[in-house]
Amino acid sequence: MAIVAGDTLIIEGTAGRRVINGSIRVNGSKNDAVQAIAAALLFRDGLALANLPDIDDVEKMLALLQDLGARIERRGRRAVIAVPKRLSRLNLDRAIAEKIRASILLTGPVLARYGSVTFPHPGGCVIGERPIDFFLDGFSQMGAKVKARRGSHMVVAPSRGLRGATIFFKNQSVTATETFLLAAVLARGRTSLKNCALEPEIENLGRFLRRSGARISGLGTPTVIINGRGLLTARRPYQVLSDRIEAGSFAILGALLAKKLQITHCRSQHLDALLNLLMELGVGIKSYRGTIIISAPRSGLGAVKIKTHEYPGFPTDLQAPLAVLLTQASGASTILETIFEGRLNYAKTLISMGAKIKIFDPHRLVITGPAPLYGRPVTSPDLRAGLAYILAGLVAKGRTVVHNVHYIDRGYERIDERLRALGLALKRF
Ligand code: EPZ
Repeated sequence: MAIVAGDTLIIEGTAGRRVINGSIRVNGSKNDAVQAIAAALLFRDGLALANLPDIDDVEKMLALLQDLGARIERRGRRAVIAVPKRLSRLNLDRAIAEKIRASILLTGPVLARYGSVTFPHPGGCVIGERPIDFFLDGFSQMGAKVKARRGSHMVVAPSRGLRGATIFFKNQSVTATETFLLAAVLARGRTSLKNCALEPEIENLGRFLRRSGARISGLGTPTVIINGRGLLTARRPYQVLSDRIEAGSFAILGALLAKKLQITHCRSQHLDALLNLLMELGVGIKSYRGTIIISAPRSGLGAVKIKTHEYPGFPTDLQAPLAVLLTQASGASTILETIFEGRLNYAKTLISMGAKIKIFDPHRLVITGPAPLYGRPVTSPDLRAGLAYILAGLVAKGRTVVHNVHYIDRGYERIDERLRALGLALKRF
């Protein structure tokens, strides 16, 4: 699957004119796809995946699985993953694993099925420390031995396999919830996971595992119970959910620049927090059967107070894109980022483009608008801040050059082509 070359985008700003009148299709969810790829290890005869997005994090996860010894057949947005009885190795390729946070999702299933796993501290965006104590503590609670080995972690299960345990997550963690949901399917006995993340992707995976033979209850609630019962058999391909963060990013684009923007193949019910907020701002929103229609208000946007929160609260992944919209709102808006301590790092760059932002501490800022933005060279520090810079460049006066577009390619497929199809002026170099 081609990943478009070129790490720089040149954007000609619209100076805030409502120039968009078109439709954009939402692709499969990055965060659903990466967990489903890890889940393939639980299936005796492998697993087919459908609606995979063509993004770098999916490529890297499939490469990690292939490096372990799985066989992967790709056909467009589908992949068929066959997993052998014995893997060729039980250590994750460090060069890849330390680049993406999602690599940690493989540790639970590899450990549970093959008895041992060695992995580096996972990578990912520079949005915060991203500890992994929940994983190491949880594996120990399931009977495994955890050792540090030359900058990696080596975890070995008891000879009879992992045993069920009651695990309480001090914070709601999406990847920790997913990793132990997967590990528990092959553990001996009952596992209770408490203070689980409630993201729809987790429920989508849990339901699929249950349909494939796993015994799971409590999906969609903070306490999920899994009774381990061995390898599963898939009766149909895993359908990757539509990406609610991509859909939300496009809704914010529409709120900035659209007469009418149709966002198709999405699930508005996964975006309540954002859509309610956009309505409060005065944005026109209609939604029906997998489509959301957004129209930017003719008069000014109102100011709001937002606090990011675990699902179903306002998603931290949409905080930076929303901040760009709030630079154009009339009045003072506040943002409280409650999940990551490094997720306001985009603000200084928006200020350099003309935004009126006061940063109080790593978790709180105030945006006063409307303030015109002016194009300039910027460098994307992470996936979602990178998308925010594209939005800022599109609403600005003049030209913006965005560097480090590879961060954006991690989570948004062919972003320049798809926005160009809306009549926006972006070129990749
Ligand atoms: C998932 O990260 C997503 N990544 C992130 O998406 C998303 O921003 C995040 O959930 C929040 O919604 C994937 O699903 C691959 P965490 P996750 O590091 O679950 C604490 C994007 O932009 N914690 O677990 O890995 C941690 O400090 C990416 O698409 C521990 O203390 O998030 C934080 O406060 C960025 N110890 C909270 O949990 C641990 O061992 C969640 O952080 C693990 C986590």
